[in-house]
Formats: sequence, structure tokens, C-alpha cells
Amino acid sequence: MNAHADASHIRLRSMLSDDLHQVAGLDTLSFADPWPQGSFEYELKASNYSLCLVAEDPHGPEGQTIVGALVIWLVVDEAHIATIAVHPGYRHRGIGRRLLAEGLLQAAERGAEKSQLEVRSGNTEALHLYYGFGYKAVGLRPNYYQAEHEDALLLDLDHLDIEFLGNLTQSLSS
Ligand SMILES: CC(C)(COP(=O)(O)OP(=O)(O)OC[C@H]1O[C@@H](n2cnc3c(N)ncnc32)[C@H](O)[C@@H]1OP(=O)(O)O)[C@@H](O)C(=O)NCCC(=O)NCCS
Repeated sequence: MNAHADASHIRLRSMLSDDLHQVAGLDTLSFADPWPQGSFEYELKASNYSLCLVAEDPHGPEGQTIVGALVIWLVVDEAHIATIAVHPGYRHRGIGRRLLAEGLLQAAERGAEKSQLEVRSGNTEALHLYYGFGYKAVGLRPNYYQAEHEDALLLDLDHLDIEFLGNLTQSLSS
């Protein structure tokens, strides 16, 4: 993949139906147990409680312009990070952080006051990303990922500050 080391040209936007095929492909590249395309389609079209974002490379090779995806479930006052992935060829450039900051900001603007997620206990890249946002480990779900015999850590971020997230999204996209 002809990815640019600088990610300033990567744009974040809401997911569209036309993105679904690429989003599912990205998930397959990112997880041992990826979501089927139909799950993303449900989140996008049928659920009123989902926030679906993508990161797009307008200069990406034909057929691969979606380089990141995020789905957040809005449950009462909580933003549950359902899935986040960045294309392997585009990682370590801050795209995951931009997606998460934008998603949390939009969730907070829709009334979320805190955030929660499950993450594989051995997923150091994701843990680093989440700890950087202030998430704290509050529980362990033993053998949650049964196929891989891996525990899940339950992480909480107990206050979503709109002003902080607004400033963060601006600084990350400039
Ligand atoms: C987790 C994931 C989304 C991060 O995306 P990304 O675009 O590479 O993340 P960023 O570039 O924004 O990095 C965010 C932080 O993680 C750090 N990081 C990235 N890769 C790292 C690694 N291999 N080891 C340690 N830290 C790492 C970055 O340095 C940055 O930290 P910083 O504040 O010190 O700069 C990506 O690795 C991914 O898609 N993984 C597979 C899917 C997955 O596991 N999703 C999470 C499910 S809970």
C-alpha cells in the first residue's frame, strides 16, 4: 500500500453505505474475529444509538480509501467503544487517536458523560491508545475471547469533557 508517512491528509467523516465493503475488509485485516459486513450495516442503518466514523485517505489506491473505522454505542449516558481499527499500513500515525478523539467528542455532544470498553489484555497497542486518553482498568473478564483463550480488560473513562475533546480534535487535525 502506498501510504504516506504524514497523515495530515487523512480525513475523518461519518460512515456511509458505500464504505461498508471496505470497512468490513479493514476489520478482517485487524481482528481474528472480525464483524461481518452485515453488523456494520446494522449499526449504520438500523441503530439509532450508534455513532459510526471512518478515516479516509483521498489519495489511497483505488478500492482502498477507507483506512480507519470506529463504532460507538451510545447507551444512556455512556459511550461504549464497540470497535476501532486502523489499516495495518496506516498505523502509528495518530489516526487511531484522531478517530477516538472525534468519536468521544461526538458522543459527548450527544449526551454521553463517560466511556467504557473491553480490550484484550495483551493488546498493548490499543491499551496504550486508551490509557493515553485517561481510561483506567476497572475489571477483568476471564477468557472473554474464547477462541484465543484471552482475558478482556474492562476500561472506564469516567468523565467526557467536551471542551477538552474539542481542543484535542482541533490540535490533532491541524
Ligand atoms: C489500536 C489501533 C486502532 C491504534 O491505531 P493507530 O492509528 O496505530 O494509533 P495511533 O497512531 O493513534 O497511536 C496512538 C498511541 O498508541 C501508540 N502506539 C501505537 N502503536 C504502538 C505500539 N506498537 N506499541 C506501543 N504504543 C503504540 C502511539 O505511539 C500513540 O501513543 P503516543 O501517545 O505515545 O503517541 C490499531 O493498532 C489497530 O487497528 N489495531 C487492531 C485492531 C484493534 O486491536 N483495535 C482495538 C480493539 S479494543
